[in-house]
Amino acid sequence: MRMYDLIMKKRNGKALSENEIRYIIEGYVEGNIPDYQMSAFLMAVYFKGMTDEETSIMTDAVARSGDMVDLSGIQGIKVDKHSTGGVGDKTTLIIAPIAAACGVKVAKMSGRGLGHTGGTIDKMEAIPGMKTSFTQEEFFDVVNRTGLSVIGQSGNITPADKKLYALRDVTATVDSIPLIAVSIMSKKLAAGSDCILLDVKTGSGAFMKSLDESIKLAECMVAIGENSGRKTAALITDMDRPLGSNIGNALEVIEAVETLKGNGPEDLTEVCLSLAANMLYLAGRGDISECMEQAKEAIRSGKALENLIAMVEAQGGDTSVIRDTNKFEKAAFSYAVKAPRTGYITHMDTEACGIASMMLGAGRETKDSVLDYSAGIILKHKTGDYVEEGAIIATLFASQEELFEAAEAKFIEAVMIEDQSAEKEPLIFARIELGKVEKYV
Ligand code: URA
Repeated sequence: MRMYDLIMKKRNGKALSENEIRYIIEGYVEGNIPDYQMSAFLMAVYFKGMTDEETSIMTDAVARSGDMVDLSGIQGIKVDKHSTGGVGDKTTLIIAPIAAACGVKVAKMSGRGLGHTGGTIDKMEAIPGMKTSFTQEEFFDVVNRTGLSVIGQSGNITPADKKLYALRDVTATVDSIPLIAVSIMSKKLAAGSDCILLDVKTGSGAFMKSLDESIKLAECMVAIGENSGRKTAALITDMDRPLGSNIGNALEVIEAVETLKGNGPEDLTEVCLSLAANMLYLAGRGDISECMEQAKEAIRSGKALENLIAMVEAQGGDTSVIRDTNKFEKAAFSYAVKAPRTGYITHMDTEACGIASMMLGAGRETKDSVLDYSAGIILKHKTGDYVEEGAIIATLFASQEELFEAAEAKFIEAVMIEDQSAEKEPLIFARIELGKVEKYV
């Protein structure tokens, strides 16, 4: 087999066989296929796409390029959740405890934030003492005892994806639906859960900016999951405004705790209940409406909050800040952003809101940036609200006062205020199972 012939075959729009795909991935990881040939292949995929079968085979090959985590040491059904990332997305900290409170196990590896998007591991580390790195035995023990554990990626998971992603990043081939699907699903398959719920974000703060593209990506990932024997479903959720009111690591933990106490903002609560209900559905806990009731009860009874506290304790974190979120260290400075005119907020450029938070110290500009856990933004108003000129629309938090000027300018630029109110967009646009798309718009 020659890489040259396989590049030409894909360039001519033909489907590759299983042997050919495995040859490419194995050859690339072993260093037998050079970057310039792999780049040409990725560009051919970018333009010609891949069939569901090709995508599933490539995902399997990428997943098997490193460790495949065996979660059989954890009793019960294991459900994973993946979000394509956004601003204010603290859902894992809410839905994993809900699922655990309902008897489903969540053994999850999460990532760190980069650029305008946050990462769950950074939020967890905003809890003093919290450890996110464990041996496999310790990880399993935490899940068996508390129902859940969220840790950083450990071991040698999908080395092929790391190499491919770095190449895609410099060859303008990141935004290809089959390549994104392979990248995300290979990590999910390697992580070992029985069921996978995908939260595909759509809108100005998301990777996928349009609904159609988001649905295509979700369909592709659901097909891969199901072809690999994992129960898989996806929700397409809104990221055209930040999720909830708080952006920034400690601020998001505080909001997650409030939501588990039943006092969360409406949008965050609705999205989390739907995600949690779908996790329970995948685990066979009933139909969606029965699962929704179980999720609501887990909050009402306080059980989900207890599960979060149990996980924090088991992972070495200070539970006193969860029991009383006033104990979180506060930012040294705060600054009120005022509405520049009277009218309705008709749009929030969500990526720009995330960048404003990053500029305050809450996010990473580069992989090596140091985070300020107390920094971020609390939104007082969001899309759809009517505001008077001079009313406070958000409060910025930082440890250095001089960070406010540029962050405020970025935030103000992100918020559009007009005379007429805009049409209200739903929070959940669609739900996808294998061969089935339910649209809510
Ligand atoms: N997230 C991933 O893990 N991979 C992609 O290709 C895009 C987003």
